[in-house]
Amino acid sequence: MPTKLTEHKVAAEKMVLSVTDQFHLLTENTQLSFAVTDQGNLFTTYFGKKLGAIDLSYVLKDVNRASYLADTYGIKNYKVEQLPLTYPSFGTTDLNQPAVHIEYGDDGSRISDFRYISHRYLVEKPALEGLPSTHAIGKVTSLEITLLDAVKNVKLYLTICAFEAYDTFTQSIRLENLSNAALTIDRLMSTHLMFLKDKFEMISLTGAWGREAYVQRKALTQGFQGVSSARGASGHGQNPFVALVDPNTTQNTGEAYGFNLIYSGNFVAGCEVDMHQNTRVQLGINPFDFSWTLEPTESFTTPEVVMTFADKGLNQMSQQFHQFYTDCLVPENFAKKERPVLLNNWEATYFDFDREKLLALADKAAYVGAELFVLDDGWYGRRDDITSGLGDWYPNEEKLGGTLDELISEVQQKGLQFGIWFEPEMICEDSELFRQHPDWMMKVPERTPQIIRSQYVLDLTLTEVQEYLISIISTLLEKYDISYVKWDMNRNFSDIYSTKLSKNRQKELAHRYILALYHILDEITKAHPDVLFESCAGGGGRFDPGMLAYTNQIWASDNTDAIARLATQEGLSYAYPSVTVSGHVSAVPNHQIGRITSLGTRTAVAQNGNFGYELNLSALTESELTKIKADVSRYKTYRKTLQFGQHTRLEVDNPQNEHAWQKSDDKLVIVTMIQTLVKPNSVAKRLRLLDLDDKVNYQDESGKIYTANELMSIGLPVEKPTHDYFAKVYVLTKV
Ligand code: GLA
Repeated sequence: MPTKLTEHKVAAEKMVLSVTDQFHLLTENTQLSFAVTDQGNLFTTYFGKKLGAIDLSYVLKDVNRASYLADTYGIKNYKVEQLPLTYPSFGTTDLNQPAVHIEYGDDGSRISDFRYISHRYLVEKPALEGLPSTHAIGKVTSLEITLLDAVKNVKLYLTICAFEAYDTFTQSIRLENLSNAALTIDRLMSTHLMFLKDKFEMISLTGAWGREAYVQRKALTQGFQGVSSARGASGHGQNPFVALVDPNTTQNTGEAYGFNLIYSGNFVAGCEVDMHQNTRVQLGINPFDFSWTLEPTESFTTPEVVMTFADKGLNQMSQQFHQFYTDCLVPENFAKKERPVLLNNWEATYFDFDREKLLALADKAAYVGAELFVLDDGWYGRRDDITSGLGDWYPNEEKLGGTLDELISEVQQKGLQFGIWFEPEMICEDSELFRQHPDWMMKVPERTPQIIRSQYVLDLTLTEVQEYLISIISTLLEKYDISYVKWDMNRNFSDIYSTKLSKNRQKELAHRYILALYHILDEITKAHPDVLFESCAGGGGRFDPGMLAYTNQIWASDNTDAIARLATQEGLSYAYPSVTVSGHVSAVPNHQIGRITSLGTRTAVAQNGNFGYELNLSALTESELTKIKADVSRYKTYRKTLQFGQHTRLEVDNPQNEHAWQKSDDKLVIVTMIQTLVKPNSVAKRLRLLDLDDKVNYQDESGKIYTANELMSIGLPVEKPTHDYFAKVYVLTKV
């Protein structure tokens, strides 16, 4: 046991190291910096507000050493466990959860030691092979740092890109096996970022089916915390997003680090607070039930992670994500195009429709001013309920009362575009596809597979399945005049096994599935750039940047109740632009939870996302239809601002009961204020707006003019709620 005296002495000792090289990636306002030591260890010295390309080596040297941690390479007081290693491997003296864990096939050892050998600046921001990734807009500095495990001859390439105008960085890792033996990757994170402090709160988006992406904010404590999915999809209950914020950070003040993984499958997003109050953030493919065999000369690339820093609160962090995704991630053809007001027949008819019902609905949709008619589940094969038909992607002419072409042209004659629903990744036992190809689904040969929603998951890794789906969907999109596709996915994985993979590669399946899905989506969406794709997974069960790289919008939740939607839309707004978040006005009592809200409230909430209707317009009264017609017309006037304006969450007195959202662009400011429960004898206070152009004035709908500073400092007068579920939309025009 050390004596008291030596304990004091140890505490006063600093790290012993010398830095040989430093790299600084700078954006307009932020920076990510790295340093290499004599020994070739790579450290992340800084991530935050821009400081410039200055010497930051002291960040490493000034760390007071803790007791009982190992020296590294026999160098006294070189304790890498206490230092912000950029990409720690299992086998250094950092004994925390590593970023990379490899088992070497030649000797079964699992120790790696990746050290810096070189770096270069790439001319272009690279795309990732087989994976969705962001593309460059404006100035992007792309740095590739190469690390080598010299004993095994395995290289790690870190590609870190700084998007100057977006204050955003991306990172992806590639592992290359240059040895003569196969190796197995058990863990390969997309990012590992260590902060030499733990005074953070973590924000994640959690929930379940029907209440997706609810914001959860908690102070960090020692140990692991975060979210993960092992469901085969990113999932309803967690999103591959995490933010670390200062405990004092609010919507419009304070520091926030946002992280989002461009991936739709099993992931982890979280952090570990270690014994000495350091925080290590990690995002990547979930190592649970994952491994990947790399033969000599082969490479493996991780999904790309997006990292952004804001020092003016959560709104700024979100707005950086929004701008970045709009410009650099979503398919370009629709990225900035105003989206049509749609009418989806699902909650209007479910499976119970015929030609007459559909056309009656389309008639009313045209009358109210909708622009796109979407035919949801039930139009193909034999599908009158969930028990049959998935896989048989040919129109059921008997049910449609004629050809699909005829239906489409009748819908189009009413002035509407036509859209259609698919659930390509699935198969029902009662389907022609199953009768022909019972071996196309995932299942373990001797076990009875779990049947969920009467369907099984196709093994997308089979080439023949990929070819079938690409060809059948492409043929339909070529044959028929379809303007929009809803790509659904209604169950998670349970029987994860592929007959085509060898037994030592079965743990590759969940990732291979996602790679295959991306391949299929890539082929279909690239071949049909004029079709607007919306993805869906039983609502928001796969709402992630991976899907957004192929589908411009995502159905946020099967729960269409306006009040339940408040938290989902608010949560999704932490990372995702409003125009990517679909929201529909549905019937009351609400089909999912029975709540009755006014048409005004339902419209106010839905139009803060990508707006549409999903109810039986044929069952509404004349006056309701007239009201909807006026709502749609008003929406179209303000659509540009609602879909693409800067989204700001305004501070409210009681966030549990009130939501206030501001959308603003160069012409308008639209504020939506919703109060869930009315509070007896309370006085509505003014709402202070944010980030207005302080050189101009704004006029409200009554003609009253305010200066921007008045609206930001004194606030907009708001109406007193007169009933529960009270919503009010205020439109201010720049004058
Ligand atoms: C899922 C979707 C719904 C609807 C149904 C059809 O639940 O989320 O919007 O398309 O499938 O079966």
